[in-house]
Amino acid sequence: MDSLAQRTSKSVVLHERPAGIPQSEHFRLVDRSLTEPGKGELLCQNLYLSLDPFIRARLNAGPSYADPVKIGSVVPGLTASRVILSNSDQYRPGDIVVGMGGWQEYVTITATEVRKAGVDPLPLTTALGVLGMPGLTAYVGLLDMGCPEPGTTVVVSAAAGSVGSVVGQIAKMRRCRAVGIVGSAEKRQFVLDLGFDACIDYSKTDNLADDLQVCCPDGIDVYFDNVGGDTFGAVATLLNLRSRIVLCGMISNLNSDRIQNIQDLRPLFVKRTQLRPILVSDHFHRYDEFLGSAKAWVQEGHLRYRENIVRGLEQSASAFRAALTGHAIGKQIVEIAASFNRSPERLR
Ligand SMILES: NC(=O)c1ccc[n+]([C@@H]2O[C@H](COP(=O)([O-])OP(=O)(O)OC[C@H]3O[C@@H](n4cnc5c(N)ncnc54)[C@H](OP(=O)(O)O)[C@@H]3O)[C@@H](O)[C@H]2O)c1
Repeated sequence: MDSLAQRTSKSVVLHERPAGIPQSEHFRLVDRSLTEPGKGELLCQNLYLSLDPFIRARLNAGPSYADPVKIGSVVPGLTASRVILSNSDQYRPGDIVVGMGGWQEYVTITATEVRKAGVDPLPLTTALGVLGMPGLTAYVGLLDMGCPEPGTTVVVSAAAGSVGSVVGQIAKMRRCRAVGIVGSAEKRQFVLDLGFDACIDYSKTDNLADDLQVCCPDGIDVYFDNVGGDTFGAVATLLNLRSRIVLCGMISNLNSDRIQNIQDLRPLFVKRTQLRPILVSDHFHRYDEFLGSAKAWVQEGHLRYRENIVRGLEQSASAFRAALTGHAIGKQIVEIAASFNRSPERLR
């Protein structure tokens, strides 16, 4: 590699705060100088970027569970990256790591903020989806918060997404009835192909509660809520005694000024339903346990996934929009580095 002073990194920075769905004009592609890694730091080349809904919340000025992105700062995002220079005993050049590398070609990052990808021999992209943060969210959220018992009914919204698709498949492995809720016919077919027992396309129904009743003849024991809003209300009418609702995401409110509140909490009171929020960052210490199970499930064909990979950092904004508007099926990923040679991880 040339001397660092001569090298720049293409980066996407936040130019303006979006109201509603982010558009290309809210972002700007700039060249930034590379920073020499200090003690305990790594210089990494970002290979793949994950486009996750939680980034949308961080583009707003208001408080959330993480600080808002400053105007002019690199847009944050999870990446799978190759270590180029290491000033840490933990990593060597060539190691493949996952961390918050951001929407940029290179990142200087503290070694304690990344972890080894560890998905070999599966494709590296899985470290951002089915075997990454979304998979861990589904795993801990369903098993620890949802506590699904064999023979009971698990309903999940955004069921074709990277979290929802894993939730339904783990529910099936636990011998539950898995019912998905999705927003298109194509997504519905995808979810049924994954082995869900039933799936409702809400874009085709006038009454979601009625359709749910048909698909959940014994009521609902676990609702894994990825969207919040009106869907929550429809599910609430069918909850069983001592059911659980895993509060995972509120994407229906992410891009909207109209916050859809739950109108009526009485069904939850009557059924003693527990609301159990999950924030995946509270559970990163479970990652190795999760990876051990999920990698085997993928390899054995019990856990299937779909990825939508677009090429080129400059596509990040439009790919992010597709992820946020429900146009993408499965995990939305940007390939940043033109060619990725897997060998450095394997050769050592
Ligand atoms: N709590 C945590 O720690 C944690 C961690 C990861 C993800 N999450 C949350 O989990 C949810 C799923 O994440 P994911 O990565 O798997 O995303 P995703 O499902 O791949 O994409 C989001 C999906 O949400 C659905 N959706 C429903 N109402 C929407 C609306 N008004 N606007 C846009 N989309 C809408 C769309 O699917 P349909 O067309 O099928 O409705 C869309 O495809 C998100 O809410 C995310 O924020 C939470």
